[in-house]
Amino acid sequence: MTLHTDWTLTETAERRDNYYAASQRKFIPFKDPMVFKKGSMQYLWDVEGRKYTDLLGMNVCISVGHSHPKVVAAAMSQAQELTHCTTMFYHPVPAHFAEELAATMPNPNGDIEWVVHFTNSGSEAIDLAMTMARSYTGNLDLLALRSAYHGPTAAAQSITGISGWRHPGMPGNVAFVAEPNQYRGIFGAGVDPYLDEIERTIHTATTGRIAGMFIESVQGYGGIIEMPKGYMYGAAERVRAAGGLLIADEVQAGFGRTGDHMWGFEADGVIPDIVVMAKGIGNGFPLGAVVARKEIAAPMAEKFMFHTYGANPTSCAAGRAVLQVLKEDKVQENARTVGAALLERLHALKEKHPAIGDVRGRGLMLAIEMVKDRKTKEPDPQTTAAVFEATRESGIILSKSGAYQSCLRMVPPMCLSMANVDQVHDGLDRAFASL
Ligand SMILES: Cc1ncc(COP(=O)(O)O)c(C=O)c1O
Repeated sequence: MTLHTDWTLTETAERRDNYYAASQRKFIPFKDPMVFKKGSMQYLWDVEGRKYTDLLGMNVCISVGHSHPKVVAAAMSQAQELTHCTTMFYHPVPAHFAEELAATMPNPNGDIEWVVHFTNSGSEAIDLAMTMARSYTGNLDLLALRSAYHGPTAAAQSITGISGWRHPGMPGNVAFVAEPNQYRGIFGAGVDPYLDEIERTIHTATTGRIAGMFIESVQGYGGIIEMPKGYMYGAAERVRAAGGLLIADEVQAGFGRTGDHMWGFEADGVIPDIVVMAKGIGNGFPLGAVVARKEIAAPMAEKFMFHTYGANPTSCAAGRAVLQVLKEDKVQENARTVGAALLERLHALKEKHPAIGDVRGRGLMLAIEMVKDRKTKEPDPQTTAAVFEATRESGIILSKSGAYQSCLRMVPPMCLSMANVDQVHDGLDRAFASL
């Protein structure tokens, strides 16, 4: 059976605009519609045959490459055998994947038993981590960072600090602390004032006993804000002293993207109590997971918690293949070396173009931030949008990010090459020059 699909650009745009709910329509990045027909590794082709280098990685979902042949083959072979097997039954593919994921977690003394709960998406995993932390600690209050994004479900919105993502009807019991943004954070550069802020917030905006704190080791939608050295470690000490857990959201920073480590939090030598992952885990196949210390997950056994597609074997087969490809293709190493080269070129662009106020990130998780004036650091979303549009002409897909939409985020498939680094540099250079 072949279903008729009309690929015409204008028809597709019209159909989408007519039948998608308003809640899904705002999020169109470019002025003119774009219809992608094909992807291969770091490249995309639109319906008119134009080729693009994807620096957005389809919102960081593409870890090892668009339609990576090994991931596609693993998923297809599983789908043909048995597309879905509900979590209630035993199936070897998710069981193997749970074992393999647990083995990627830090375990320096070999005394941590990591266990896995698969979900359909990142925000479901976030919701579950919130419930797990509250169930284990018996405390309700959670801490989150102001420029954090943790997902669209009501609970995930409640710990998301960017106003543009917060809708009416979120649950409460969340206190926000200032993000340790070394470029424009409210306490300037440094770590201690931000750690003091955690203590102050626990004492002034919670009951004094908390369930935990959510931290992205490198904030993605926040505009690539790296947690400075010592912050996650210091946060864990303060949060644990108040009865809470450290919950690492590795949805964007995980799976080797930061270059030096499999998990972004490892850069700080801290071991979280719960780790949330999604996106790159399935290289485009829908999947999320909560990985927690066994004793922390245990109280959840008192009630049912069932994600229909959670341990879907097709997505888990893709996930297993991702882990294998990460090793075989030396993907993390590539993220480190190509990311370092791109970072250097972005710094060179900053020397040339005064609109760039900051360049930051690590591995293949990078951003430039645009400002109206380098002294006042006033965010410049207009220039950001103009550069974003102009780079499209050079065949580059970037992402506007940050609480003020003043950052261009670069989170490509981690197979990006050195040749692409030149292309991105030249495309950005031309875009700034054309303003
Ligand atoms: C850091 C972070 N956490 C959680 C989520 C939510 O994941 P999902 O969109 O799969 O629900 C996202 C999604 O962008 C994210 O970037």
